[in-house]
Amino acid sequence: ETTTISSNRENVPRDEIQGLVAGFPGETNWDGVPLHFYKGVWYPAFAIRGAISFQQHFIARDTDIILASMPKSGTTWLKALAFSVVNRSIYSPKETPLLTTPPHDLVRFFEMDLYLKSQLPDLEQLPSPRIFSSHSHYETLPQSIRGSGCKIVYICRNPLDQLVSYFHFVRKFKGENGKRLSSIDEVFENVSRGIQSYGPFWDNVLGYWKASLERPEKVLFLKYEDLKEDITFNLKKLAEFLGIPFTEKEEKDGVIQEISSLCSFDNLRNLEVNRTGFYQNTGPSNSNFFRKAKVGDWCNDLTPSMAERFLKIVEEKLAGSGLSF
Ligand code: A3P
Repeated sequence: ETTTISSNRENVPRDEIQGLVAGFPGETNWDGVPLHFYKGVWYPAFAIRGAISFQQHFIARDTDIILASMPKSGTTWLKALAFSVVNRSIYSPKETPLLTTPPHDLVRFFEMDLYLKSQLPDLEQLPSPRIFSSHSHYETLPQSIRGSGCKIVYICRNPLDQLVSYFHFVRKFKGENGKRLSSIDEVFENVSRGIQSYGPFWDNVLGYWKASLERPEKVLFLKYEDLKEDITFNLKKLAEFLGIPFTEKEEKDGVIQEISSLCSFDNLRNLEVNRTGFYQNTGPSNSNFFRKAKVGDWCNDLTPSMAERFLKIVEEKLAGSGLSF
């Protein structure tokens, strides 16, 4: 059976990807979701088709902006920030679409959204600069992204907080669907072996970290904790990197402050649009993307010895890279 794609590029046989996936090593994630190992990445089963299709078909423009991350590292926040920085001359804070649209619908995921369906998305009609997002590893991004002038912004987070944030995210989602809830020990066991959605954690961060060192004009590497500590500094850094630095007048007029307040955890979380509804109708609730937003919250779920064990693994994997947590 071949699905007809209404795209002027090419037709993709529907079975091709299913056939490929059957040959990938598999594991069951601690949350019960099957994972498939492809090109060094553990993909959740529901995203593998999208990930492969994205790799095969996406054609970047030099003006594109790609936001990349491990899940639960501040992706939602980065989407809101980047969207606001890029569109600040079009929308005032009072009329920005962020007030009425969840950040994940304004900046859409390649794997879990745009390329999920067998019908290829028509991205050609989108005006530049287009902003997209991905959880895939740097090495797996289509050549057209790595080889073009488009810019990549990566956000990473302390792996303990990332792990705990994901644990709660999944528990809430599963709870919403009446499924069995896993314990943190099960999570820990898997994650310590690198088996987690879009993991291993260390490979996800390392690819972007190295790329940011090799091509700083192309890849910006941000840390969630740094944004929490000094959002003004990091917003300036982001705008400069994107080639649209804040002008002196904008700074004087408080534009940076406006964007940071608009995108703050409390503001976004309390918007009606983010308190209600579900990601893509059947996914997690929109409110599930906003939990505590605290640095160091891992200590409420992980014991010190678990933390020590996991950090030791991460440290070993990152050894010599210059990146540490
Ligand atoms: P916690 O679970 O620790 O609270 P992602 O967006 O990658 O899914 O990451 C979700 C994490 O980012 C959650 O962390 C969530 O609360 C936090 N978060 C969401 N929006 C935020 C914002 N505007 N500012 C800071 N943190 C935010």
